[in-house]
Amino acid sequence: MPGLRAPSEYSQEPPRHPSLLINAKEPFNAEPPRSALVSSYVTPVDLFYKRNHGPIPLVDDLDSYYVTIHGLIESPKKISMRDIWALPKYNVTATLQCAGNRRTAMSKIRKVRGVGWDISAIGNAVWGGAKLADVLELVGVPKLTSVTRSGGKHVEFVSVDKCKEENGGPYKASIPLSQATNPDADVLLAYEMNGETLNRDHGYPLRGVVPGVIGARSVKWLDSINIIAEECQGFFMQKDYKMFPPSVNWDNIDWATRKPQMDFPVQCAICSLEDVNAIQPGKVKVSGYAASGGGRGIERVDISIDGGKNWVEASRYQKDGISYVAGDIRSDKWAWVLFEATVDIPRDTVIVAKAVDTAANVQPENVETIWNLRGILNTSWHRVQVRVGHSKM
Ligand code: MTE
Repeated sequence: MPGLRAPSEYSQEPPRHPSLLINAKEPFNAEPPRSALVSSYVTPVDLFYKRNHGPIPLVDDLDSYYVTIHGLIESPKKISMRDIWALPKYNVTATLQCAGNRRTAMSKIRKVRGVGWDISAIGNAVWGGAKLADVLELVGVPKLTSVTRSGGKHVEFVSVDKCKEENGGPYKASIPLSQATNPDADVLLAYEMNGETLNRDHGYPLRGVVPGVIGARSVKWLDSINIIAEECQGFFMQKDYKMFPPSVNWDNIDWATRKPQMDFPVQCAICSLEDVNAIQPGKVKVSGYAASGGGRGIERVDISIDGGKNWVEASRYQKDGISYVAGDIRSDKWAWVLFEATVDIPRDTVIVAKAVDTAANVQPENVETIWNLRGILNTSWHRVQVRVGHSKM
């Protein structure tokens, strides 16, 4: 029966790190503990969040694996891994963030539909692979093309995995052709993550990586690439991952009224503290991540120790020994920025963090104003509570 899967399909899944917090077992959805995210600028592969809509497929014979590129182009082709490896290899440090990151906090305001996530459905990796712009040249689509001669305007990625939302069909998503063929957009067909061969959980042998865009468009386990006239009509483009106003509910929703979400908005979260913390009075280190979509850098991260009345600026950094300057050639354009501030906490309070990106976009103060029924894009100010004890330790 389409859409139903035998349990055995899940029993073949790869081993995972024991400290991952599992939000759903089948399909497997898990995130690392908060503190893991600020332990390093590049997130280790085994602690990188895992977001799936079906069982993890097993592609074990690279000799018979190829990606079919077809649709509104003159010369469709089957591309093997050898063809991909023969193209110039790029390493792009890019943050992937699920649109559902911080959904659990949004669901506390009013019920939302979807897998619950704390603040760690995000990670920063060095993706190695060929640029999609170079791959598309192999099928006769030149760089910086917005429309092909036969009217193709979008690039659809179709995967090997099957999911119930697609009635047993493959996961799929698309991006505009103009982005796919722009070498500066750094869209990759990636076969490496942090210098290692991509593993099964993250899309072995080949996945799309679309920097600056919600993770849903970075399709894993590629099976084919289709050049199409309109954006992909799949479930995850048309009936999911769209941002609706708070007034829309499951009775009055009209999916066609909104565009699929692409870039993610400015976001930050404190990772060195949990939602509620018992601490001794005195100095506390507040650290976390900040990121914005569309290649926008992080201009500022503000920290408040009185619930948002007064603010201090946190320091921002990416790589050791290189100061972070948004837009500078030595900074990673598509990657998150870690931040740190040391504050003095004498009594119980709420610590708040908010980020500002290079376009001066600021995170909204309250989650109520951005509540939406699918619980996506919770980018409200991140708050943690601290309870100060005076016991001698
Ligand atoms: N690609 C396929 N084939 N199947 C999926 O379920 N999930 C998407 C995207 N690509 C998905 C997929 C979503 S919603 C996200 S956030 C990212 O993969 C997560 O990538 P990761 O598991 O490597 O962190």
